[in-house]
Amino acid sequence: MIRIDSVTKRYPDGTVAVDRLSLEIPDRSITVLVGPSGCGKTTTLRMINRMVEPSEGTILLDGVDIQQQPVNTLRRSMGYVIQNAGLFQHRTILDNIATVPRMLGWGKEKSRARARELMERVGLDGALAKRYPYQLSGGQQQRVGVARALAADPPVLLMDEPFSAVDPVVRKGLQDELLRIQEELGKTIVFVTHDIDEAVKLGTMVAVMRTGGHLAQFAPPAELLSHPADAFVEDFLGADRGIRRLSFFPAAGLELLTAPVVPIDATAEQIAAHDTTDAPYLLVTDPDGKPLGWSEPQDLTAGDIKAEELLPCGRPFVPGTDSLRAALDCAVLSPTGWAVAVDADGGRVTGVVSQQTIAEAIRGAHAEGREDDGRPEGPADMKVAG
Ligand SMILES: Nc1ncnc2c1ncn2[C@@H]1O[C@H](COP(=O)(O)OP(=O)(O)OP(=O)(O)O)[C@@H](O)[C@H]1O
Ligand SMILES: [Mg+2]
Repeated sequence: MIRIDSVTKRYPDGTVAVDRLSLEIPDRSITVLVGPSGCGKTTTLRMINRMVEPSEGTILLDGVDIQQQPVNTLRRSMGYVIQNAGLFQHRTILDNIATVPRMLGWGKEKSRARARELMERVGLDGALAKRYPYQLSGGQQQRVGVARALAADPPVLLMDEPFSAVDPVVRKGLQDELLRIQEELGKTIVFVTHDIDEAVKLGTMVAVMRTGGHLAQFAPPAELLSHPADAFVEDFLGADRGIRRLSFFPAAGLELLTAPVVPIDATAEQIAAHDTTDAPYLLVTDPDGKPLGWSEPQDLTAGDIKAEELLPCGRPFVPGTDSLRAALDCAVLSPTGWAVAVDADGGRVTGVVSQQTIAEAIRGAHAEGREDDGRPEGPADMKVAG
């Protein structure tokens, strides 16, 4: 565990970048430092690997004051990733990643073998090994940065806005990859960002900092969204924190209707059997049970249903892995206001659900949170996709 104990950093010009900060950073999880520009995130991160020395207070790594350790030993136990990756421009990708193992005297072949293994781990095509950094996209360069930081298998990874220079799509890919790597390797990651969405997505714990190097709140993301400590945190979380909080409630409990689902070869009886008071629309599926589109029952002719004449069914959700937020999003985007649920492996329809049913589930979830002093159960474990 990394323990930051009442640490202050005053730069020589008198700027107080960090002010009596105390944090306990748990092992084998991602702790995110988030806050507006200049609030002291980078300074805090750099104090952990002693690129910056605190003016007051102590930082303990597994109970030992980091001042007691030789700085090289300390840094070797901590990979460091920065924005724009900070790669060596005159070295190939493979040699960039092999840098630290080489420094540790691993030998050329062993280092390169390790670098190849890491390229695969971070999702880089082996064919890129011989290229130079300028021949890679920004997202690929960030992956190289992560691979390089992981090369000597340090228990701790310090990451300073590693994904902020890439576009949103690439960024999402990198975030998903980091979560996967963290799950596989169990690193202790301290991650700096100024993007609250990124913080909520990645963090097991999130430290919200405010200008002047003060800690505003330190909590799991679900708790941050349900109980912002003060107006500053609430403001920083943004106007849609209620919607975003729905990411922490699984869609698994939604009651799905199967009656309004008919196959494309439905008989006249199947169509007529539909009770429009339950659902005004029918969802038509292909012979494999995959969704094709919506229609009003009176517009369907048995034996002559044309897929191209149906209303689009939109993006479906997967109840087992998706959140209430994802389900709501599907319903909001659906032309009928109904969301389509599918199974995870085959994409076959398992049922449909109305906006109204989702809204009731949301009220239920929020009420459950309130009974419990507002904390949704196991916020950290309950984080679900979407
Ligand atoms: N070497 C330095 N000398 C003097 N002041 C500094 C120095 N480095 C940083 N600061 C100041 O300390 C404060 C915190 O800086 P820091 O880089 O830690 O912020 P940050 O939260 O990482 O910001 P950003 O989101 O813009 O990267 C700022 O006011 C900054 O100007
Ligand atoms: Mg910074």
